[in-house]
Amino acid sequence: MEQLSEYVPLPQTSTTVPLAFTVVQNHSGASDLILTQLIQLKSIFGRQLPKMPRPYITRLVFDRRHKSLILYLNPRGPPHSITNMATSPSPSPPGAMVGGICYRAYKNEKFAEIAFCAVQASQQVKGYGSVVMNLLKEQGLREGIEYFITYADNYAVGYFKKLGFTKGIT
Ligand code: ACO
Repeated sequence: MEQLSEYVPLPQTSTTVPLAFTVVQNHSGASDLILTQLIQLKSIFGRQLPKMPRPYITRLVFDRRHKSLILYLNPRGPPHSITNMATSPSPSPPGAMVGGICYRAYKNEKFAEIAFCAVQASQQVKGYGSVVMNLLKEQGLREGIEYFITYADNYAVGYFKKLGFTKGIT
């Protein structure tokens, strides 16, 4: 069997660490793997967004209209690579979960709302927040999404501005 993986160049040159990502969504036949991934991501959101009520985080992460883009370390991948786990031969997470973004797409209106965005504390300020947001923008294009909106914590406004978000709707 040939190993077929899709590698996309790292958005900006923020890190040389090989990474992998997946987009998952709860549904009636969701596998244990998907549920485990969502539970782990929910825990990261819970720790990193302490002012958000935990039941609210759980409700949206497991809501069947919400999707989550999840970023992993990928120790066996080539440097500067980001493997799309959807096209990788093994769907299992290759390394530790770094963080992710939970979002809901409104396809007819061509926009998506970002509900939660977080990176593990030990992995922050290494460029992974930029990587995950840029991957989400690429995912948005695949889903026909042209705009993203979010309600950002005051602390995180600088991060969103760096990633091209503005205060008004443009
Ligand atoms: N304020 C100002 N600028 C910031 C902040 C901040 N809080 N965080 C990151 N940046 C800047 C960085 O300096 C960097 O700019 P540079 O490219 O000029 O150096 C850029 O944003 C990207 O930085 P990364 O290292 O890629 O970001 P990181 O991996 O640290 O992730 C994140 C940023 C997701 C905000 C992370 O700090 C985190 O999880 N924080 C706790 C949870 C949180 O606040 N999430 C957002 C809440 S709003 C919501 O979820 C809808």
